[in-house]
Amino acid sequence: MGNRLLDAFAFEYKHLLEAELRKLVDRLEAPPIIKKAMHYSLEAGGKRIRPLLLFATIAAFGLDPKKGLLAASAVEMVHTYSLIHDDLPSMDDDDYRRGKLTNHKVFGEATAILAGDALLTYSFEVMGMIPNDAASSDAKLKLVTEFAKAAGAEGMVGGQVADMEGENKELSLEELEYIHIHKTGKLLGFSVQAGAIISGANEQQLEDLRRFAHHLGLAFQIQDDILDLVGNPDLLGKPVGSDTSNHKCTYPQLLTMEGAKKALQHHIDESKHYLERTGLSTTLLLELTDLVASRDH
Ligand code: IPE
Ligand code: IPE
Ligand code: MG
Ligand code: MG
Ligand code: MG
Repeated sequence: MGNRLLDAFAFEYKHLLEAELRKLVDRLEAPPIIKKAMHYSLEAGGKRIRPLLLFATIAAFGLDPKKGLLAASAVEMVHTYSLIHDDLPSMDDDDYRRGKLTNHKVFGEATAILAGDALLTYSFEVMGMIPNDAASSDAKLKLVTEFAKAAGAEGMVGGQVADMEGENKELSLEELEYIHIHKTGKLLGFSVQAGAIISGANEQQLEDLRRFAHHLGLAFQIQDDILDLVGNPDLLGKPVGSDTSNHKCTYPQLLTMEGAKKALQHHIDESKHYLERTGLSTTLLLELTDLVASRDH
């Protein structure tokens, strides 16, 4: 995207994250097939937006982003599990993800479901591995609790259920917002929150960052809906038209394409507003926000 600071930062930290993910799965004493299926989806690529948000939040506090390596790995594991399950025939029934065949297409449904389960459970073990010099016991407990909330029925899972129940229906904007905030916003928001917790943020900073991430999460999923209609599948690494064939209610469908783009810009503006209020060194987070607004994959 031509943002020098973010480009260099993303290059360095994606590399560190991917090496860590590989190492974490390698060390498991488990049947080879499940490790292979976990590796397959983790290593398929992906933008690593959530880990980058976590690292960039720590950087905004002037601390070493490496303190967030295990937390970022845990978040990417839960995100990857959510994608494996989202693509299953009983859910969105998609054949491609991150430019490769979906997990169930390669390993079969049963192994794909179990690979998702294994990534979810392992992520909490990984969160527990954070050393005391990166987060105190209190901070770690808060990380685990907030992580569970963001991933579970009050978070991503709740959003996925509402998304499923919304099929073949004309939803109100409020109902659609609920879906977006939960299925996508909660985990994205947790990534920022985790960076802040690790950095010892005060209550005001946590609140401003929470609002920043709330709007960023909405913007991120609005752009996901837009790309499902007008994106290039080669760049996206996943098929377009999935929402239409699954009769999903989306932002462009509810508000027209122009209305969806306006809503996207509104949430980008709001997120920047709250980010600026933090008084932190937010250059990287601002560049990530612009990336979310203009991303083509
Ligand atoms: C896709 O997430 C699913 C949503 C929550 C919209 P990403 O667009 O972050 O997917 P990857 O990780 O880059 O593949
Ligand atoms: C899925 O939303 C969000 C989660 C996996 C939690 P979508 O179904 O819109 O994601 P894509 O478009 O398949 O990546
Ligand atoms: Mg879905
Ligand atoms: Mg999907
Ligand atoms: Mg989508």
